Amino acid sequence: MNKIDNEQSFASAIKGGVATNQPHDSAHKHVTGEAVYIDDMAEPAGTLHAYLGLSTVAHGTIKQMNLDAVRAAPGVVAVLTAEDVPGVNDISPSGLHDEPIFADGMVHFLGQPVFAVVAETREAARKACLKAEITYDGKPALIDVADAAPDAKLVAKPLTLQREDAAAAIAAAPRQVKGQMRVGGQDHFYLEGQIAFALPGEDHDVTVFSSTQHPSEVQHMVAHALGVPSHAVTVEIRRMGGGFGGKETQANIFAAVAAIAAKKTRRPVKIRPDRDDDMIATGKRHDFLIDYEVGFDDEGRILGVAFTYAARCGFSADLSGPVTDRALFHCDNAYFYPAVHAVSRPLYTNTVSNTAFRGFGGPQGMVGAERIMDEIAFALGKDPLDIRKINLYGDIDRNLTPYHQKVEDNLAHRVIADLEEACDYAGRRDEIAAFNQKSPIIKRGIALTPVKFGISFTATHFNQAGALVHVYTDGSVHLNHGGTEMGQGLYVKVAQIVAEEFQIDIDQVKITATTTGKVPNTSATAASSGTDLNGMAAQNAARQIKQRLIDFAIDNYEVPESQVEFLPGRVRVGNQEIPFADLVRQAYMARVQLSAAGFYKTPKIHWDRDKGQGRPFYYFAYGAACTEVSIDTLTGEYVIERTDILHETGRSLNRAIDIGQIEGGFVQGMGWLTTEELVWDEKGRLRTHAPSTYKIPLASDRPKIFNVALADWAENREATVHRSKAVGEPPFMLAISVLHALSGAVASVADHRICPRLDAPATPERVLMAVERLRAEAAG
Ligand code: MTE
Ligand code: MOS
Repeated sequence: MNKIDNEQSFASAIKGGVATNQPHDSAHKHVTGEAVYIDDMAEPAGTLHAYLGLSTVAHGTIKQMNLDAVRAAPGVVAVLTAEDVPGVNDISPSGLHDEPIFADGMVHFLGQPVFAVVAETREAARKACLKAEITYDGKPALIDVADAAPDAKLVAKPLTLQREDAAAAIAAAPRQVKGQMRVGGQDHFYLEGQIAFALPGEDHDVTVFSSTQHPSEVQHMVAHALGVPSHAVTVEIRRMGGGFGGKETQANIFAAVAAIAAKKTRRPVKIRPDRDDDMIATGKRHDFLIDYEVGFDDEGRILGVAFTYAARCGFSADLSGPVTDRALFHCDNAYFYPAVHAVSRPLYTNTVSNTAFRGFGGPQGMVGAERIMDEIAFALGKDPLDIRKINLYGDIDRNLTPYHQKVEDNLAHRVIADLEEACDYAGRRDEIAAFNQKSPIIKRGIALTPVKFGISFTATHFNQAGALVHVYTDGSVHLNHGGTEMGQGLYVKVAQIVAEEFQIDIDQVKITATTTGKVPNTSATAASSGTDLNGMAAQNAARQIKQRLIDFAIDNYEVPESQVEFLPGRVRVGNQEIPFADLVRQAYMARVQLSAAGFYKTPKIHWDRDKGQGRPFYYFAYGAACTEVSIDTLTGEYVIERTDILHETGRSLNRAIDIGQIEGGFVQGMGWLTTEELVWDEKGRLRTHAPSTYKIPLASDRPKIFNVALADWAENREATVHRSKAVGEPPFMLAISVLHALSGAVASVADHRICPRLDAPATPERVLMAVERLRAEAAG
C-alpha cells in the first residue's frame, strides 16, 4: 500500500496534467537549499533589522517606560512604541480593535510586544531590547480556563448548536455518562519562523515581503498602521517554510513593524524573531476543556448529547470566534446525534492570543466526539469500533448534523469497512488481547477512528478566489492566483489544472509569487480550500483565453467550433494540427487578448450563525485510520507500532502530493496528541518555548509500519475542480486513532472495564498516571 501506485485511468496525456504524480514544483530546491525564502533574499545596501521588546508580566498597566539605554545602545537607529504608529495601532483581524501592534498603557500577556528596536544588525537590535527599563502595575491574571469564573470575560460571542431537546433525551435514556476532558494546544513549529521584509518606495508606497498565508490581510493591516490607502501597499510571498494556520493572522505584527520602521527610517527593514520569541509572542492552537454528557441505549446508540467547549483564547479575539465555532461543527465527527446541545466558551485569558492551526478547532471538537464513543463502549463492555459504527450517520435518514446540514455524501461506512478489512482489525484485536494476557509489562492497544471534515470557510464570503493568466507569444504561460504556497503543493496543483486546460506540458507554465498587486482582495489560504478556490479561478481564466483562441480559429480557418480541439501540445483545426505556440502567435497577430483574470465563488453554501443553521460546508472529506501501539506500564513510554490509513480526496489531482499531505498531517496530529505539551506557569510564562522542552515528533517517532492508501473509488459528487477534494487539514485528525490506541492499551491493565479518560497530549507521564489510576481503581 505504501508506494504510490500507477497513475489513474483518467490521468492526463500531457506531462504534469491533472491526476499525474507531478512532484512539488520546489521539491528539488527544498532539498538542495536553492528555494528562496524571505531570509534568503539578497539584502539591499542599508538594510536595517528590527527586534521586538516583550512584556515581562502577564497583566498590568505600564507604570514607567524608560528606553534611553535602548536608544543609546550600539548600532541602534530607531526605537518604536505605540506613539510611533502613524496610522492606527491595531492589527486585530476580527475588526474588534482589541490587538495593538505595541501595547498601549496595558499589557495582557507575558510576551506581548511593547516596543521595537531598529538597528544596523539583528544582533544589535536584539541586545538593545534587553536594556529597556519598564515597570508595571500588576493585575490579577487568568492563565488557565479551569480557573475561569462562570461569568468570565469572553473574546467572542459563543455559538450554540442544537437539535431537539438534548437534556430531556439524555434524562430519558436508559444509560448516561458524564465527564470532562482536557485537550492541549500546539505550537505550529513551522521550520521557517515568522519574518517580514519591507522596502520603502516613493510617496506612501511600501512593498512588504511577508511570510503570510493571507497577503491581503497583511496589506490591509500595513495600510491601517501607516494610515495610507491599500493601493500604496504591495505584499508578496513566493513560499513559506510552513504555515499550518500560524501565518494566517500572526504574520501581521511583523509586517506592520517592518513597514513602519522602513517608512520612518527610509531604509529597507527586516524583522525575524528567534525561535523562543516566536513561540512566546505568537498564537497557537487553542487548548480546550470539554464537558460532555451523553444518554444512550443498551446497544450503545446515542439518544442525546450535550457539550460545552471552553477554550483558552488569549487576550484578544483573533480567530477564536470561528475556531471555537468549528470545534462545535465537528462535535459530531461522523456520528448522528438525535438530540444535541453544544455550546462554545471562547474565554479571555492572559496568555498569547490563540489562532488557526490545521483543522481550525475541528480536531478539538472531534476529540470530544471520540471520547464519548469510548465512554459508551467501556460502559457497555463493547468494542469501541462497534459503537462507532452503529452511531455513524445514515444515508437516507439519521443524517442531519447539529447545524441542520444534511449529510448527503456519506462515505464513512465504506471507508471504515474497507480499512477494517485491509488492516485486519478484528484479527489483530484478538491477537492483541492474547498478547496482553501473557505480557505483564508491555501492553498493546488498537483503535480505528473515522474522520468527516467539512470543507469551506464557515464565513461564507471568504469562499471566493481570483487568478491571473497570461499567455505569451511563444506559447508559454504566466500563472498567478490568490493562494499561497506553504509546502502543501497548492502551486503545483493549480499549474497542473492550467496545463490541462491548454493541453501543454507543465514546464510551459510559470508559477509566480502571490502578490496583492496582481490578484486583489484574496482570502487566506486556509480551511483546506486553496486548490478548490484558486484552482477553479485559474481554470476560469485559462478557459476565457482558450475560448478566445477557439473563436479565432473558427474565424480564421472557417471551421465550426466542433472542429477545433485542444490536443497535447497542439490544436486540431479542421483537418490540420497546429502547434499551440503557433496558434497563439497567429491569434496575437490578429489582436486577440491573451490575458485573463479568473474568478470563482463556491456555490450552495450559506450559514446563519444566530440560528445555528445552514449549509456551511460545500461537501465533506472522509478518512479513517487504524493505529496499534505498545506501552511500557512501568514508565509510560510508548511506541506506535503500526498505522493504516484509508483517506479519500475525490479524484485526486496529484496522488503523490495528497499522500504527502496525509502522512504529514497524521504525524503532526500525532505530535499534538502525544508529546507536544505547552506549559504556562502561574505567572503566565510559557515554559516550553524551544525544542528542548517542546517535543515535536522525530522521524523515529513515526509509526514503525505506516500504510497510507487513497480511496481510488472516490469522486466528489459536487462539481469541484476535476471532482477532487481538499486534503490539507482532514488527515490531521486521523491521529485521533493514536490517542484511542493508547487509551486501549492503558485500559487493558483493568481488563477493559474502566474508561481510562486519557487527556491530550497523552505524554508518557500521562499514560503512566492513567495506568496507575486504573490499577488502583481495579484493585479498590
Ligand atoms: N502542508 C505543509 N507542507 N505546510 C503547511 O503549512 N498547512 C496546512 C495544510 N497543509 C500546511 C500544509 C493547513 S493549516 C491548511 S489550511 C492547508 O494546508 C492550506 O492549504 P490548501 O488549502 O492549499 O490545502
Ligand atoms: Mo489552516 S488552520 O486553515 O491555515
